[in-house]
Amino acid sequence: MKHGARGVSEESVLGKAYDARLMRWLWGWVRPHRHLVGLSIVLFVAVSGVQLVQPYLVMVAIDRYMLRGNVAGLNLIALLFLAAILGEFLFRSLEIYVMERTGQAVILDLRRALFAHLQRLPARFFDRNPVGRLVTRVTTDVESLNEVFASGVVTVAGDLVKLLGIIGVMLWLDTRLALVTFTVVPVMLALSLFFRVRMRDAYRRMRLCLARINATLHEALAGMHLVQLFNRQDRQYAEFEELNRAHLAADTGSVIYDSLFSAVIEWVGTLSVALIIWYGGREIISGAITFGVLVAFIEYTQRFFQPIRELSTKYTVMQAAMASSERLVALMAEQPEAGARTDLPASITGVTSSARGELTFENVHFHYQEDEPVLNGVSFTVEAGRKVALVGFTGAGKTTISKLLVRLYEPTAGRILLDGVDIRTLEPRNLRRRMGVVLQDSFLFRGTIAANITLDDPAITRRRMEEAACAVQADRFIRDLSGGYDHQVQSRGSNLSTGQKQLLAFARALAFDPEILILDEATSSVDPVTERRIQSALAKLTRGRTSLIIAHRLSTIVSADRILVLHQGLVHEDGTHAQLLARDDLYARLYRLQAGRESRK
Ligand SMILES: Nc1ncnc2c1ncn2[C@@H]1O[C@H](COP(=O)(O)OP(=O)(O)OP(=O)(O)O)[C@@H](O)[C@H]1O
Ligand SMILES: [Mg+2]
Repeated sequence: MKHGARGVSEESVLGKAYDARLMRWLWGWVRPHRHLVGLSIVLFVAVSGVQLVQPYLVMVAIDRYMLRGNVAGLNLIALLFLAAILGEFLFRSLEIYVMERTGQAVILDLRRALFAHLQRLPARFFDRNPVGRLVTRVTTDVESLNEVFASGVVTVAGDLVKLLGIIGVMLWLDTRLALVTFTVVPVMLALSLFFRVRMRDAYRRMRLCLARINATLHEALAGMHLVQLFNRQDRQYAEFEELNRAHLAADTGSVIYDSLFSAVIEWVGTLSVALIIWYGGREIISGAITFGVLVAFIEYTQRFFQPIRELSTKYTVMQAAMASSERLVALMAEQPEAGARTDLPASITGVTSSARGELTFENVHFHYQEDEPVLNGVSFTVEAGRKVALVGFTGAGKTTISKLLVRLYEPTAGRILLDGVDIRTLEPRNLRRRMGVVLQDSFLFRGTIAANITLDDPAITRRRMEEAACAVQADRFIRDLSGGYDHQVQSRGSNLSTGQKQLLAFARALAFDPEILILDEATSSVDPVTERRIQSALAKLTRGRTSLIIAHRLSTIVSADRILVLHQGLVHEDGTHAQLLARDDLYARLYRLQAGRESRK
């Protein structure tokens, strides 16, 4: 498979229109809706039947009734013809409806499954795959599978049968005239082949451009503030413009071939009509065929070329669908986040069973990228109910430690224990339920303030939610918002200040009442009043709870029971504030630097 270290493959290849492995995969999705597929095939047969009978009726009308002056018979045929076209209309619209329904039903299932799968993928996967690309998977790639149904690829076998049917009827009506008419078929096939290859290349280029446009657009929109601040609009516009031009070029190529192809096929069709009139006319004169047969032939050739024209379109649709399936299969093959492992010894001896919320790191090693170690054997214990501060230079690996604790990433070596139990043996769901994490950059969803605190957890009552907000003193600013707790938060919380977002994140953590609190403090300094509020909120949050606080604020650090200094992937120092000051090492230095800054404020 083409994914791997670089993530789910790019939209580059567009090869086979049929791949047994991918077809089996696709069939797996179609299977639950096979009754719909069956129905569309039945309808297709019905449509083809009433279509094929029409030229025949015309022939009968001309030969048997018109030329013999039989008005009653002509009326009957007219009625039959009307019935045939009404039938065609009815069956055709039903067929289209059923085919589109099938497509929608399949992609609904597929989208659901994809989204559920994405939700289970580990953090590493999202490090590797840009958001724009994943959005393309769930939208464009799924849509190209829908095309398979909408364009009627399902009935492609039916198209072939229909072609054979027309060939059969024509041969039966008049073999020689049929053979003369078919002389244009090789010309048509050669032209189709010629254009198909070129159209495919143009289409492939177009897809690639579109994927790049999506990715660029996503990044440009996400970073719009920055672009505006640094006046990078022109530069970014130029970049976007270049991609757009490439897309236009590919699109133009595709359109040119497409229109040429249609025109050429029309032309070949007309050529065959000319052949029929020329050769058939001679046969009429010599009395070999009737006038009705000639007209029927002209009608049949029209119906003969239509499926041929559509076949090449369907071929392209299938190629695109196969390419999309390939990427979707690769995405679905991504390993979901590990669950609870059963192959490890769960409980470690020598730990008091009454302990609730004791955290231990045992010689933990970790890296995101090979050769770039972040943690080189970190060991420490946070006793139940204690508040430990984790400090260190930027990039020391503090946030990484909090991610390891909730199993967003797994240590490459060593163990993390919760109450003496290796956390790898716990279900991530259960583990995370016990931990309240306040992330370094708070994230809010679109929705109300209340929903952002409770995350729509029905276990959290309105009252408990409000109490949590009061406890961390977030209620003051919430009350000032229009609508209070029902105030609408915009995407990513863009209509709230950083401090407000942090207070909400605290309220959320408290509302969930976790056993263990992991708090990644934002570095941003807030005003002294808010600072005091956050401090008292913190005191509330950490009371009686095991807390690991990644601290940047002096006040937080000093009030911790113990302080860990992370440096060069190791716990460099471990002790109380007083002990570490007495050691006069890294911590003392950090502290003096910060204290100096604080006093200047
Ligand atoms: N998703 C990631 N993929 C690759 N490398 C990463 C990833 N996240 C962090 N790193 C790297 O790991 C190292 C530790 O990062 P981490 O976020 O843990 O630092 P930190 O101590 O929290 O820093 P800060 O005080 O700035 O928040 C950094 O060198 C960083 O570049
Ligand atoms: Mg950090």
